[in-house]
Amino acid sequence: MQLLRILQSQGFGVRRACRELIQTGRIQVNGVVVEDPDFECATAALTLTLDGQDWRYREKVYLALHKPAGFECSRQAQHHPSVFSLLPAPLGERGVQPVGRLDQDSSGLLLLSDDGDFIHRYTSPKKEVGKRYRVVCKHPVSDEQIAALLAGVQLRDEPAPLAARACTRVSENVIDLGIAEGKYHQVKRMLAAAGNRVEALCRTQVGGYALPADLAPKQWRYLEEEDLARLAEAA
Ligand code: URA
Repeated sequence: MQLLRILQSQGFGVRRACRELIQTGRIQVNGVVVEDPDFECATAALTLTLDGQDWRYREKVYLALHKPAGFECSRQAQHHPSVFSLLPAPLGERGVQPVGRLDQDSSGLLLLSDDGDFIHRYTSPKKEVGKRYRVVCKHPVSDEQIAALLAGVQLRDEPAPLAARACTRVSENVIDLGIAEGKYHQVKRMLAAAGNRVEALCRTQVGGYALPADLAPKQWRYLEEEDLARLAEAA
């Protein structure tokens, strides 16, 4: 593939900007400076270096971000900083999108990708990809509330009650909740319908992939093959 096209595909900028990066000697291909935009290189095992930073060639990217509370998932954030401000520019530039959003005041595992099929697979309501949340509630969570969440609670504008797949008490005011859907404000609405109120919400798992314990708030990482395989497992 032509070096110029590779740079564009990896989010290094528009055609003119990429040409300039190459012609001014700022790009290394597997450790060697290449100043010819038409240089042909194989994409397998390709590492590009820009200003000392290595970028492995990736046809598509799959990311896990530990979203902190206080960040919006939209690119054009309105009232708070955007999660895109937590990613290096080339990842935003190549068009990654959140795979299912989290509210501004929620935290936890946010997946992002530029693979349209993947995004569809993990957001389509038909696929019922399981998600788990650690939920801090305003009031102590009663046995009746847990039973109601597991049996199904009726939310306004929903045709049928929504039931949690799992609900376990962690402490008096804290539960772990598993759901299969991803409806607007679903966890907050379910807790309200059960007679409680969400004070803090953290997504801890999507499918079989858990938020890594060593991924601190604001940090991100690539999902590799083994992570994607885990993600595809049931929650
Ligand atoms: N449910 C909510 O209410 N908010 C989220 O951010 C995620 C799930």
